[in-house]
Amino acid sequence: MSCNLLKAEEFIKNNKHIVNDKYRLTYHVIPEIGWVNDPNGFSYYNGLYHLFYQYHPYGSFWGPMHWGHVTSNDLVHWKYEPVALAPEETYDQGGCFSGTALVEGDKHILMYTGLGIDKQGECNKYNQEQCIAIGDGIVYEKISKNPVICSDQLPSGLVKEDFRDPKIFKVEDVYYCIIGTKTSDQNSAIVLFKSFNLTEWQFISILDQSDEASGGVWECPDFFSMDGKDVVLISPQFKRPEEYKYYNIHSNCYRIGKIDLDLGKFQLEHMDEIDSGFDFYAPQTLLDAQGRRIMIAWMQMWERNMPSHQEKHHWAGAMTFPREIKLVGNQLIQQPVEEIEKYRKNKYQLDIQFCGRLAHDELKGNTIELLIEFENVSAKAYGIKLFVGEEEETVFEYRVDEEVMVFDRRKSGIELKGNKNELSSNGIRSVKLAAEDKKINMRFLIDRTSVEGFFNHGIRTMTGTIYASKESNGVELFSDGTVNVSLTKFDIITT
Ligand code: FRU
Repeated sequence: MSCNLLKAEEFIKNNKHIVNDKYRLTYHVIPEIGWVNDPNGFSYYNGLYHLFYQYHPYGSFWGPMHWGHVTSNDLVHWKYEPVALAPEETYDQGGCFSGTALVEGDKHILMYTGLGIDKQGECNKYNQEQCIAIGDGIVYEKISKNPVICSDQLPSGLVKEDFRDPKIFKVEDVYYCIIGTKTSDQNSAIVLFKSFNLTEWQFISILDQSDEASGGVWECPDFFSMDGKDVVLISPQFKRPEEYKYYNIHSNCYRIGKIDLDLGKFQLEHMDEIDSGFDFYAPQTLLDAQGRRIMIAWMQMWERNMPSHQEKHHWAGAMTFPREIKLVGNQLIQQPVEEIEKYRKNKYQLDIQFCGRLAHDELKGNTIELLIEFENVSAKAYGIKLFVGEEEETVFEYRVDEEVMVFDRRKSGIELKGNKNELSSNGIRSVKLAAEDKKINMRFLIDRTSVEGFFNHGIRTMTGTIYASKESNGVELFSDGTVNVSLTKFDIITT
C-alpha cells in the first residue's frame, strides 16, 4: 500500500470515533469521516456493487482528492473498504479527480483525472490528465504509463485546464472514453478518445457541445445505451435556467440520441433535467447482473453551506439512494431500487377523502418511506408537508392549474444558502408535472437530513437535503378542496 493510502487509513481508523452522528443518514452512503463529493467508478464487479467517491478524509471540506471505496451486495448496506486511490505521483499529487470503472475479466479498471502540481507545489490547474489504475476489488495499482491522456492531446480551440472526469467504456475490441471540457469560446463540451490497449489514446472528436456559452464544463459525463438509444448524462456548470429547469448553480441533465463512434458525433434527439430539486450532481450509472441500469449521484450542490461542516461534526456529503432507471420514449424514469422494500417495517395505511389539513399521530418519522396517491376532486392546490415541527416544515405542493410540483424548503430548518451567483430564489424549486386521470402519485424516501421525491412513478424527481430539528418529524397532508388520498407509510430500518 502506498504511503498516502496508509496515512489515510491510519487517520480514518484513529479518528472516526470523533464524528458527530446528529445529522448522519442511515441508509445512504456517507463518509466514515471527512468530506465526499462525486460518485466515482460505480460498477458491478465480482458479484458486488462497488462505489468509489471523491474523498478528503482529513476534513469536512473539499481538499486533495482521494478515492474512497464502499461495496455492497444489496445497494442498501455498504461496507467501507480501504481508500482506493490517494494523490501521490507527479501527475496526481494535486488530487485524484473523478472518473469511472470498467470491468474486464477479473480486472477492475479505474480511469480518473490526475491533477498535477506546479514547481511551487501548488495545484496546477493547467495540468488535468487522464490516468488508469487496475485492481482486484480492494487494492488498486496506478499503471506505470500514466498519464495515458495528456491535455496536450486536445486540439486548439479546447481549454486544456478544464479537461476532466473520463467515462471509459468498451465496444467490441475498442476502448473509448468521453471527457468533460470546454471550448475557448466558453461553450461546454465532451470529447471522445479511442484506444486499442488502454495506454495509447487517440483524440477523435468533440462529441457534443452546448449551445450556450455559460463558461462552464460539462462535468462528469456518463454514457450508456438503452432500448436502442444512446444516453449521455452530464453535469453542466453554470447552465442558465429555462422556465422551471436548471435553477441550481450547476445542473444535471440527460441527453438522448444516437452516437456514431466512427464519426465521433452525437445526434441529439431530446434533453432534459434529471432531477429537479436542490441537491443532485455528478450522477453515474452501472449495469448489474440482473440487467438493471442503476444511477447514483452526489446528494449535494456545490457552494452551499453544509451544517455538518459548520457545526464541526467532522463529516460532510452523502449520495442519493440508488435509482433504477428506464426509458419510456425519450423520458428517463427513476425509481429507488427495489431492495429498499426488504427494510420496510411498521406499515401504516390511510385511505381517506378530506379537505383542509390532515395529521395523525402515527404519521410521522424521519427515516421513512411514503407512497401516496392523490385523486383530485375539487382542489386547486394540495400536497404534503414533511419534517413538520412547531416552526418547521418542508412542503411539496401540487398546483393544479399550473401543473407544477413545488418543493419549498424555506421553512425546513437550518437555512441552506447557495452561492450569490445562483440565479434562483434559494428555497424553492418547481417542476412541470401533468396529472394522470386527475391523479398525482408521490413517493418519498426520507433519511434524517434528506428527502427524495419521485412523482408519477418516477417521471420526475426532486431531491434535497433538509436540516430540521430532530423533533420536527411530523407528516401532514393539505388541500384547499376535496381530494381522495391513499397513503402507505413504512419505517425504513436497516440495523
Ligand atoms: C464535479 C467535480 C469534478 C471533479 C471533482 C473534483 O463535482 O468538480 O469535475 O473531477 O468534482 O472533486
